[in-house]
Amino acid sequence: MPTSTFDIFRYQPDTGPEHFRQTYELEHDADLTLLDAVLRLQNEQDGTLAVRYSCRSAICGSCACRADGKTVLACMSQVEDLKAQNGGQPIKVDPIGNFEPLKDLIVDMDPFWEKFKSVKPYLVPDGPAPEKERIVSKEAMQKIYNESKCILCAACYSECNSLAADADYVGPAALAWGYRFAADERDGQRTARAKLYSGEHGVWDCTRCMYCNERCPKGVDPRDAIEKLGGIAFNEGVSWADAGARHAKAFLISMRTGGKLNETLLVPFTNPIKSQLDLPFALRMLSKGKAPSPIPHRIKKLDEVKKLMKNVKETI
Ligand code: SF4
Ligand code: FES
Repeated sequence: MPTSTFDIFRYQPDTGPEHFRQTYELEHDADLTLLDAVLRLQNEQDGTLAVRYSCRSAICGSCACRADGKTVLACMSQVEDLKAQNGGQPIKVDPIGNFEPLKDLIVDMDPFWEKFKSVKPYLVPDGPAPEKERIVSKEAMQKIYNESKCILCAACYSECNSLAADADYVGPAALAWGYRFAADERDGQRTARAKLYSGEHGVWDCTRCMYCNERCPKGVDPRDAIEKLGGIAFNEGVSWADAGARHAKAFLISMRTGGKLNETLLVPFTNPIKSQLDLPFALRMLSKGKAPSPIPHRIKKLDEVKKLMKNVKETI
């Protein structure tokens, strides 16, 4: 029987304010999950060890934690696999990131639920209700299939770099749900949703680190959903609402008109007011040849770039 060592984050606010780490050893069968290991430690060695769980089947999303720094569902992670990945070292177990711990591995999920509610994660159909039901084609549902798989485990939220920098960022899970309803053909709020998600702390604050896609246990790919929400914002004409949106739009215009990125135009498009203040500095840079010309330069094969852009648009 293998024996494993667990190095677990502890926080017991009833007995003291300090966080500390505690090491436990456990002899176990080869097919033990991380959640079952923590539950066995709780039952057999230390009744004060706190962990949140429910289904034990990767369905409820409540057992998310960090194992050796990576967010996982504890019930979906095999202890022997984790040891194979870390070279047989003690397995470090921590609460999920970007949350305040309440007790040991249990965190305060309230900010996550507030942000989830803020994206209006429910259908708001237009017009009178049909007599029976609203029929949706398989193809239409396929567009939102990935996002519909979310179990709200917050693994993506835990890994999100934007949230680490800005605690008010809505976060990948809420935005994935936003896309799930914005792209649902039964919903009548697409423009309103595009505006709601494009504001401060929304779609355009994503840094595209891709960790949410990497760590999501359900293959939701929240970063992809955020990207598709950006596309919806463009299509609904709300692409000037935020500096991030204007930045993306400047890329698009630049590629369409010249076939390549015109970096000099990025700044005035993204931040028109600030760029006026920086104008003397920009002119000095231009006169010294330190900035590319703001006059759009057209590449010879502009038609091919346009065809490529059209193809990309059609495949999204
Ligand atoms: Fe969990 Fe994935 Fe949903 Fe994020 S998008 S809450 S990681 S299931
Ligand atoms: Fe439900 Fe792990 S206990 S997902």
